[in-house]
Amino acid sequence: MFALNFNKTIMPIFYGKATLTEFLNSVKTSNSTIGFVPTMGALHQGHLSLMQQSLTENQHTVVSIFVNPTQFNNPEDLEKYPRTLEADTQKIASLDPNIIVYAPSVEDIYEGNVTSQDFDFDGLENQMEGKFRPGHFNGVGTIVKRLFEIVTPTNAYFGEKDFQQLQIVKKMVHKNHLKVNIIGCPIFREANGLAMSSRNERLSATEREQAAVIYKILTAAKEKFKTQNCEEVKQWVEKTFKTNEMFDLEYFEIANEETLTPCEAKLKDKNYRAFIAVFVNNIRLIDTISLK
Ligand code: PAF
Repeated sequence: MFALNFNKTIMPIFYGKATLTEFLNSVKTSNSTIGFVPTMGALHQGHLSLMQQSLTENQHTVVSIFVNPTQFNNPEDLEKYPRTLEADTQKIASLDPNIIVYAPSVEDIYEGNVTSQDFDFDGLENQMEGKFRPGHFNGVGTIVKRLFEIVTPTNAYFGEKDFQQLQIVKKMVHKNHLKVNIIGCPIFREANGLAMSSRNERLSATEREQAAVIYKILTAAKEKFKTQNCEEVKQWVEKTFKTNEMFDLEYFEIANEETLTPCEAKLKDKNYRAFIAVFVNNIRLIDTISLK
């Protein structure tokens, strides 16, 4: 264990699963709960809000910081993913120095076999992110399941920005009978509406400012969805992005919130959600909005 001395309080940081497990066994009791926030680091206010919720609802909170190689289908994206462990641990310690940090190496997690398990998520994986990032959700399923085995959380917190990931994790937990509650938490946005994301770190000041257009278009699409059908809204979004030289639309989809299947005709008793992925200067940004 490495201990960060923060304002005279020691924050526990573990780089290996064996010492983390030993520590957790020494602090947890038969009725204490462990809240878990899995992250890939480059922490922002959205992550800190998940930690805050976990602190409120559990006796112990564990945060993992691990850039998981098996969920990246694009090697450049993996290489350029921001890695800011020191700043991240300072942010966590400022929030609460009792938070337990697990920052493993690839070896500690994968033990020489950096591959994904094959999952069946009942088709949730075939749409949107799964369609455009082949293998991504097998990588997510693999790491989340492994982290759950190591941390043994009672409650695990995931942001709704990655709404498809949230649904997929819930499916994996259900299908594997894992004893953990999955809690979805609201999206945190910058002042201009841009959804907070670790990838925002890679944007220039101008790109970050201009990226406000993503949320503006999502909110306009939500308004249009009240009177127009799914195809009309989709076409409007696609046409709007064609006139924008800074951003390349990868997909815009309106899908059933539960099954994630694309909306063909609106059904009264179903909830719909819009999903978007956009490239700016090779940096991929995603966002989502409920259309209810
Ligand atoms: O959402 C993320 O940051 C990652 O997909 C997660 C859940 C930490 C797994 O690597």
